[in-house]
Amino acid sequence: KRRIGVMTSGGDAPGMNGSVRAVVRMALYSNCEAYAIYEGYDGLVKGGDMIKEMQWEDVRGFLSEGGTLIGTARCMAFMQRDGRRTAAKNMILKGIDALVICGGDGSLTGADRFRDEWPSLLEELVESKELTTEQVAPFKHLNIVGLVGSIDNDLSMTDATIGCYSSLARICEAIDSVDTTATSHQRAFVVETMGRHCGWLTLMAGVATGSDFIFIPEQPAKEGWEGNMLGIIRKHREMGKRKTIVIVAEGAIDENLNKITPHQIKEILSGAGLDTRVTTLGHVQRGGQPAAYDRMLSTLQGVEAVKAVLEATPETPSPVICMIENKIVRRPLLEAVAQTQKVAEAIENKDFKTAMELRDAE
Ligand code: F6P
Repeated sequence: KRRIGVMTSGGDAPGMNGSVRAVVRMALYSNCEAYAIYEGYDGLVKGGDMIKEMQWEDVRGFLSEGGTLIGTARCMAFMQRDGRRTAAKNMILKGIDALVICGGDGSLTGADRFRDEWPSLLEELVESKELTTEQVAPFKHLNIVGLVGSIDNDLSMTDATIGCYSSLARICEAIDSVDTTATSHQRAFVVETMGRHCGWLTLMAGVATGSDFIFIPEQPAKEGWEGNMLGIIRKHREMGKRKTIVIVAEGAIDENLNKITPHQIKEILSGAGLDTRVTTLGHVQRGGQPAAYDRMLSTLQGVEAVKAVLEATPETPSPVICMIENKIVRRPLLEAVAQTQKVAEAIENKDFKTAMELRDAE
């Protein structure tokens, strides 16, 4: 029987458990064995009990749980070749030659590199007599399939990453709460949102809560933004609005690539006579139960990931499972990551138009 491993890596995201459940159950349904790797790459390097065979009932209740129940970690050992060699050994000892990884772009790139190195890692293991030729013989190729789990929705070539809609819902709930107290006191609030270098959460939250002004990395604030923001807020107040909400992404910048901070905005609003408070939402945005969309997305993608493992050939580039126009599709993992990195480069080069276009590209 084919043995398929599943792990979560990088920052947790609501819906990751749904993907573990789907991979385990689809693997069993497809007459394979399923293994969960605990604590991300750390578990792969440590081996032993950190790689555990999973049965159908082991993932019962996973769908509605937030975070990742099999744990995640930022693993330094896996960054070193020695660590990856030990990881390969542990996988062979368990008979696993296919890995489904749910994580951010960094975690997925690491996995693809592991696949490239796999044959040479096995040679080294035989040379050093850690494993025998007979032991490694059945495991010539490693299959890697990526699922993008991140609240940031920052990967190109997919419309949604697992976790982003749960996070968006939580942000909106939090802003709704801020709204009631803001309205009561006629105050202004500057709300800081997560997203790393991506403004998706902020942009969508701005639309969904009817906020007055937002700041996102992909559209840096132009010279004179202070006056522009105040003008819009003043107009809203004149129309009878009793509150002001400005949302600032943690990666927000101005045209000179200087960071725009919530406190900087607070000073400007206070200077204009508004009683202003800052609310940093922090990890509340990443925690809690997954929204229905993320349960659905992680389930459909987990099923597709197992199909991709079973259909893979040594020549097939490692795929990442995406959602494009409501369809689950496979895209080459490295191409999706490369395109994502181009966005960051375009921003660094102050080519904001290209950055926006690349974000939207399939
Ligand atoms: O990538 C998810 C994310 O929550 C980002 O939005 C944020 O910048 C980062 O992770 C925070 O990382 P940590 O949990 O390590 O503080």
